[in-house]
Amino acid sequence: MHNVVISGTGLYQPPHTISNAELVQAFNAYVDLDNAKNAAAIEAGQRVPLQHSSVEFIEKASGIKQRYVMEKDGVLDPTRMRPRFAERADDQLSLMAEIAVDAARQALAAAGREAHEVDAVICAASNMQRAYPAMAVEIQQALGAGGYGFDMNVACSSATFALEQAYNAVRSGASRCVLVINPEITSAHLEWKDRDCHFIFGDVCTALVVERADEAKSVDQWEILGSRMATQFSNNIRNNFGFLNRSEDSDPEARDKTFRQEGRKVFKEVVPVAAAHIESQLLSLQFEPSAVSRYWLHQANLGMNQLIIKKLVGADAGSEVAPLILDEFANTASAGSVIAFHRHRADLKSGDVGVICSFGAGYSVGSLVLRKR
Ligand SMILES: CC(C)(COP(=O)(O)OP(=O)(O)OC[C@H]1O[C@@H](n2cnc3c(N)ncnc32)[C@H](O)[C@@H]1OP(=O)(O)O)[C@@H](O)C(=O)NCCC(=O)NCCS
Repeated sequence: MHNVVISGTGLYQPPHTISNAELVQAFNAYVDLDNAKNAAAIEAGQRVPLQHSSVEFIEKASGIKQRYVMEKDGVLDPTRMRPRFAERADDQLSLMAEIAVDAARQALAAAGREAHEVDAVICAASNMQRAYPAMAVEIQQALGAGGYGFDMNVACSSATFALEQAYNAVRSGASRCVLVINPEITSAHLEWKDRDCHFIFGDVCTALVVERADEAKSVDQWEILGSRMATQFSNNIRNNFGFLNRSEDSDPEARDKTFRQEGRKVFKEVVPVAAAHIESQLLSLQFEPSAVSRYWLHQANLGMNQLIIKKLVGADAGSEVAPLILDEFANTASAGSVIAFHRHRADLKSGDVGVICSFGAGYSVGSLVLRKR
């Protein structure tokens, strides 16, 4: 068995931001239009009027202040309420591959690696833009990487579950250098017309290089001491979009074909599961939770992260212990904990221990314990 390190990370940040104020203004304009269109039915008591959203609620309930998106005008158009993307020809680089290549090049540069030295590419995200060929194979070709590529999806835990695949591949000797890439274009599966969730997501792409410790040459290396994954079925976060829809003659615009959740249930059920998962993994590696210098947690809700940290180390989450990036990025599905790791590790010193942990749909929880070399 080989020792394995994460030797470089990359972050693609989309060109547009949407503040809560802009988002709420567009949402409320949509609500007014919809209520005006349905005034007679509302008046007759046959339809419940839609309600306005509020900046105060969003910030208080989630901690989110803004989000990055690939395309902004379509999202903020009250007569559209979803991004506007141009369809690309088969011989053009696809949108997910484009942002993946950008993040991957940054990660490779940080690791001091050339693309041809990569022998596996895993594209792990909550949505793939097509059924096949696999996004990872297109990314592999665009980068000039060797070996093989495959896609995988465990929703919000896609990145951590992919890191475990990369860790095992390198540890066993099957691969020497694996690229894990998480292109999350969440704006295309979010229901921007739903007041309960329209503020939740943002777009981004993260990438990590995972390779043998004895071959790594970057200045900033994080040894993977262990990884652990767990799943437990739940319908509380669900999206029924899929290839059977057409044959089921179901409405492609129906509410169940985009992201839905029972947010309050998710909050209550996932916090104890995630905290217990991290604690038992740390104890199995002979670490007390208080010995961990940094927790790079999934970024869905500020309150969730504060509770998890409180359960683990008995204190409110200061940015020192569990840095927050969701105020700037919102929930970026599987990429959130990786963004936190990318942005908030430079101050740690050799020997410091940290935990990357994701949790979300499935339910799924994935965690990796890392030590700076
Ligand atoms: C989604 C989430 C932010 C909602 O916060 P919450 O405190 O649970 O809010 P609720 O949905 O219970 O709504 C509370 C009240 O605010 C109202 N409300 C909901 N959305 C609103 C909005 N955009 N603006 C104003 N009010 C709103 C509700 O109607 C409700 O009103 P009521 O008390 O009169 O019934 C929170 O539950 C969450 O983040 N959960 C975890 C989600 C998660 O981790 N998901 C993983 C996804 S990958």
